[in-house]
Amino acid sequence: MMPKERLIVALDVDTKEKALGLVEKLKAEVKIFKIGSELFTSCGPDIVAAIKAKGCGIFLDLKFHDIPNTVAKSAIAATRLGVTILNVHALGGYDMMKKCIEAVALEAKALKITKPHVIAVTVLTSMDENSLKKIGINDNMEKQVLKLAKLAKDASLDGVVASPSEVKLIRRELGEEFIIVTPGVRPGWAAADDQKRIATPKEAVLNGATYIVVGRPIVEASDPMAATKKILEEIK
Ligand code: C5P
Repeated sequence: MMPKERLIVALDVDTKEKALGLVEKLKAEVKIFKIGSELFTSCGPDIVAAIKAKGCGIFLDLKFHDIPNTVAKSAIAATRLGVTILNVHALGGYDMMKKCIEAVALEAKALKITKPHVIAVTVLTSMDENSLKKIGINDNMEKQVLKLAKLAKDASLDGVVASPSEVKLIRRELGEEFIIVTPGVRPGWAAADDQKRIATPKEAVLNGATYIVVGRPIVEASDPMAATKKILEEIK
């Protein structure tokens, strides 16, 4: 993959104008933009169409986590929007993930479009072992992440979202084809913000990440294109 194909920029902003402004500035170098719950809740599904109209792919990061039927129907709706990647929480369980990917495959076939990649969030990159303990999970981070990644693979999902710290392990255990999307990526020159398990773009890719997701270091930079180019250079 080319460096350009590996970078996903998180459009964590709250208006269509800000989102489209960033897409316009960055689209020469960025092929996929991530729409998360802030932008989607603020602007609705029209924002997906507007960004697609500029020729870019969408990672719809709404992290569905509900009963299997509700997640499958939400994922069908996301498939109809023509997104490239969508995600669910692996903590929703095997049945939820299985029903979701089956529904997405059927819908994509009916629409005669490429099936979106369905990936599962293992453990949020903002969490550490202390935060896991507080919600009753006593396994160490690697064990918990690997358990959820294997569950996602068993349910036939295309990949996972995982922090840079677990990429190497997942790549080794789950093979070359499994997609690993890695947020919590911070170049040496950027602040960590609320991310706890971070790595540089270079480390993330060397460890086996398929895609890296970068938000604030680009979106909040005084020159987002310059920040993007620096990150692409590091990936290369
Ligand atoms: O600004 P920053 O680079 O930290 O943005 C990371 C993005 O990745 C955010 O939109 C966040 O919601 C998302 N994300 C994450 N950890 C996950 C899944 C998604 O940080 N496990």
